[in-house]
Amino acid sequence: MKKIALVTGAYKGLGFEWCKQLGKLGYAVVLTARNFEQANEAANKLKQEGFDIYPRALEVSNEQELKELKNWLETTFGKVDLIINNAGINPKDYADKTKMAKAFYLNDLDAQEMLNVLHVNSIAPLLMVKHCRNLLNRSDCPIVVNISSWLASVSNLTFGGHYGYVGSKNLLNVLNKSMALELKNEGIICVNVNPGWVQTDMGGKKANFTTEQAVLNILNEVISGLTINDSGKFLNYDGSEHPW
Ligand SMILES: NC(=O)c1ccc[n+]([C@@H]2O[C@H](COP(=O)([O-])OP(=O)(O)OC[C@H]3O[C@@H](n4cnc5c(N)ncnc54)[C@H](OP(=O)(O)O)[C@@H]3O)[C@@H](O)[C@H]2O)c1
Repeated sequence: MKKIALVTGAYKGLGFEWCKQLGKLGYAVVLTARNFEQANEAANKLKQEGFDIYPRALEVSNEQELKELKNWLETTFGKVDLIINNAGINPKDYADKTKMAKAFYLNDLDAQEMLNVLHVNSIAPLLMVKHCRNLLNRSDCPIVVNISSWLASVSNLTFGGHYGYVGSKNLLNVLNKSMALELKNEGIICVNVNPGWVQTDMGGKKANFTTEQAVLNILNEVISGLTINDSGKFLNYDGSEHPW
């Protein structure tokens, strides 16, 4: 049977590129986005290139939608081989700068806004695995890749503020390590990966890598060589271990 991949936040940016490259590798790819129309439009573009793509609506912080997605996966494929927890928010991108400030500057810091960022960036990837655990267990080589960031690294941090994004990606690192340890006996490989600075709406046009380069780096240098001994690691796009 074909390998099944699931990508979150996938109608544009890195997520869309993941679907394209995994489609090229012969995976059946479940392309999810908060809005079904956006998922469907993106899926149609990739279907025209001959790839096997399945659009679904998923707001990653909505657990009911996660349950519904899991039920659909169970009925449609009965397993999942690769989950790319890609969806993420960076408060710097909020159009409403007063909202942005609530997860960015100490004087404006707001607990609820911080919790919203943590929910999407740090907790939702684990909730995805919570719901898809049985489906992953039916794969020969189950892999979960959480898209982290160099900004998750405490030792590399050289500037202040930016609490929502920096804190949420850092929390994602330690939560992934705990999850990896809990799931190790089941053979589920869970890693966090820094994709580098990438040309997307979030990364901007001056970034180092195109989305194609970034995804190919991770496929070739990270995913292709993963074993259960890597589970819990924070990896760089070149396959090296990233400083915590
Ligand atoms: N670009 C970089 O340089 C860079 C560097 C390090 C890490 N990353 C990480 O890479 C991942 C992809 O980012 P990107 O650069 O491709 O940026 P992007 O183009 O802004 O894509 C982010 C995607 O996440 C989706 N998303 C956000 N919140 C969501 C939610 N609650 N439920 C479902 N989808 C949600 C967005 O959908 P909406 O449009 O509906 O919000 C969008 O599709 C993120 O996790 C980001 O933190 C990027």
